[in-house]
Amino acid sequence: MGNWSPDSWTSKPAAQQPAYSNPAEVVRVMEAIAKLPPLVTSWEIVALRTQLAEAARGERFLLQGGDCAESFDHCDSSTIANKLKILLQMSLVLVHGSQRRVIRVGRFAGQYAKPRSDDVEERNGATLPSYRGDLINRPEFTAEARNADPELMLRGYERAALTLNFIRTLIGGGLVDPHRLDYWNLDWVTDSPMAAEYRRMARSIGESLRFMENLVGAHPGELHWIDFFTSHEGLVLPYEQAQTRRVPRQEGWYNLSTHFPWIGMRTADPDGAHAEYFRGIRNPIGMKVGPAMTPETLKRLIDILDPDNEPGRLTLIHRLGCEQIGSCLPPLIEAARATGRTVLWSCDPMHGNTRTTADGTKTRQFQEILSELDQAFDLHAAHGSRLGGVHIELTGEDVTECVGGARRLNESDLKRAYRSQLDPRLNYEQALETALFIAGKMRQGNGAHTAAR
Ligand code: PEP
Ligand code: CO
Repeated sequence: MGNWSPDSWTSKPAAQQPAYSNPAEVVRVMEAIAKLPPLVTSWEIVALRTQLAEAARGERFLLQGGDCAESFDHCDSSTIANKLKILLQMSLVLVHGSQRRVIRVGRFAGQYAKPRSDDVEERNGATLPSYRGDLINRPEFTAEARNADPELMLRGYERAALTLNFIRTLIGGGLVDPHRLDYWNLDWVTDSPMAAEYRRMARSIGESLRFMENLVGAHPGELHWIDFFTSHEGLVLPYEQAQTRRVPRQEGWYNLSTHFPWIGMRTADPDGAHAEYFRGIRNPIGMKVGPAMTPETLKRLIDILDPDNEPGRLTLIHRLGCEQIGSCLPPLIEAARATGRTVLWSCDPMHGNTRTTADGTKTRQFQEILSELDQAFDLHAAHGSRLGGVHIELTGEDVTECVGGARRLNESDLKRAYRSQLDPRLNYEQALETALFIAGKMRQGNGAHTAAR
C-alpha cells in the first residue's frame, strides 16, 4: 500500500465535505472519537468480506437496506426494531425464494451524512446552506441549524453506538429466533394484502426448521444462524478517518465505525479524496455506479480499490434508473470483466428512479423500482454476469413516500405520512412486496436458466 495513511486523502480534492469554519474543533472532535471504543470489530469485518466473496460466486445473496438518512431524533426503540424486523422478514422471503443464504446489511448505525446536488437551499428569498444530514447540520431552515457543527460527528458516533447496541441486544435476545416468527410481524401487517403469502412462507419455514432440528438434534437458535452487519456512505472523511485503526494480529488498517462503508455516486472519482481514503482500508467496500460513469472510469476505480483482486473486497452497486439500465449496464459489466477482478454486483433500484411531483414532493414509482430490478437480473444473466444483491431504501414504518404497490398509493396519499427529510423510502408493505418479487425472480432463475437473449 504505497504512500497511504488514514489522512492521505487530505492531499486530494474532497467533494461533498462540510464547510467547517473552525478546523481546530474538527481536530478536537476527531481525537475524541478516536479515543472511544470501536463500534465493530475486525473479525466481524473479515467475516463479512468472506460472505461477500461467497455472494460474488453465487453462493449467497446480499440484502442491504435502511433509511436514506437516519435521524438523531428517530434513534428510538420502535424505529430501530421495526427496521430490523422488516429486513429480517425480507431476508426470510429471499432465503426461501433463492435457496441461498442471505447476507443482511443495514443502512444504519452511522448513515447520518448526505451528499447534496446543491450547496445552498432557497426558501422565500432566503438562502442557507443545504441540510447535509444530522452528522453535519440540522434540517430546520435557520442559519444556526444549517451551520456545519463538528460536535455533531461526536453525537453521531454516540447515536450509532446506541443503535448498534440495541440491534445487538435484539439479535442476542432472540428476536431473530425463527421459532418466533410471530414476533417479526408488525402490528398493522394483519390486514395487508401481503399477509397471506408471508404467513404461508413463515409456516413452511417453521416446518423446515422442525425437520432440521429432528435431523441434527440441535436448536438452530444456538447456531448463531443470523448475522447482521452495518453500513453507511463513507462521505465525511474526517469522521471516517477518526476510527480508522490498526488492530492486533491483523495486517493493515480498518475503519471500525462500520463493517461495510460505501462510496456514493457523487464522490466516486478516481482522482478524488474518497477513492484515496477507501483504497487503504481493509473493510469490504461498496461503490455506487451511476449513469454518468464511463467504462474507463470504472476500470480505473476498480484498479485503485481492488488492486489485488481480493474476493469480497468490492461491491459495485449500480443505480441507473429503469429507463437507462438497459443501455448503461452492459458496457459497465464488460468493463468490470476486462479488469479480471471478481466483483459483487448489487442493484440499487431507488436512486435512479426519483421523481418530483407537480407540487414539488420527491417520490418514486413502485413499478419503476420493480422494473429496474427485473431488468437488472435479466441483463446480468444475458451478459454472463450475476446480480448478487440489492440495495434498498426502506423503513419499517407505515409511511407514504413512494407511490404504487399492493395498496396502490397515489400522489394524493403522499401528504398523509411523508416523514423522510430526504429520499422517499419504501414502507413496510412495499418492502415486503419487493422481497417477494425478487424471490420470485430468483426462483425463476434457479429453475430454468435464463438463456442469453
Ligand atoms: C444514497 O444511497 O442515499 C445516495 C445518495 O445514493 P447515490 O450516491 O447513489 O446517489
Ligand atoms: Co437516498
